[in-house]
Amino acid sequence: MINPKDFLEFLKRRRSIRMFQNKMIPDDEIEMILKAARWTPSASNRQPWQFIVIKDKELLKTLSKITIYGYFIAQAPVAIAIVGKISESPNWYIQDTTLASMSIMLMAWSLGIGTCWIGSLDREKTKELLNIGKKDYLLTVLPLGYIKGDIPKPTPRKELKKIKKEI
Ligand SMILES: Cc1cc2nc3c(=O)[nH]c(=O)nc-3n(C[C@H](O)[C@H](O)[C@H](O)COP(=O)(O)O)c2cc1C
Repeated sequence: MINPKDFLEFLKRRRSIRMFQNKMIPDDEIEMILKAARWTPSASNRQPWQFIVIKDKELLKTLSKITIYGYFIAQAPVAIAIVGKISESPNWYIQDTTLASMSIMLMAWSLGIGTCWIGSLDREKTKELLNIGKKDYLLTVLPLGYIKGDIPKPTPRKELKKIKKEI
């Protein structure tokens, strides 16, 4: 088990990273990240996901252009597209793949690798570009890279008393 205080500190320190060093992520680190994704819980353990590892520079550049706020994909050495296989779990593919995205982000952070969830993408165009089947769902494309510059300051969080309700 992980020490809970250390774990909370780890969660608190994770930031969305939008500036990356021009340095490739070795395959064994990418594999660690995908292993974490693999161990994500899923409804009825259906694991309705696929992870596309994108290293092609031109593709990363093109992807950066078809997002509204994801220009930084172009700088990332790697990105992982998270695909939900709708037919494998029609009711839960969004929840399952979203949880997998968190596993990826946390394992990456433990390796000193920054990520940022990109919600503002053109899903249809991106699917076409990545050759993702029409019947599959593209959750997000997560850029990954070693952090460039300082880790951004903590982003504010709502007070616990505001979000906690006891009954
Ligand atoms: C569903 C979702 C969509 C997001 N979309 C974008 C995005 O399109 N572009 C971006 O720069 N950040 C995006 N973010 C990152 C958030 O802005 C960020 O997580 C939030 O401001 C909190 O900062 P932190 O991750 O550093 O704690 C997204 C995050 C989530 C969870």
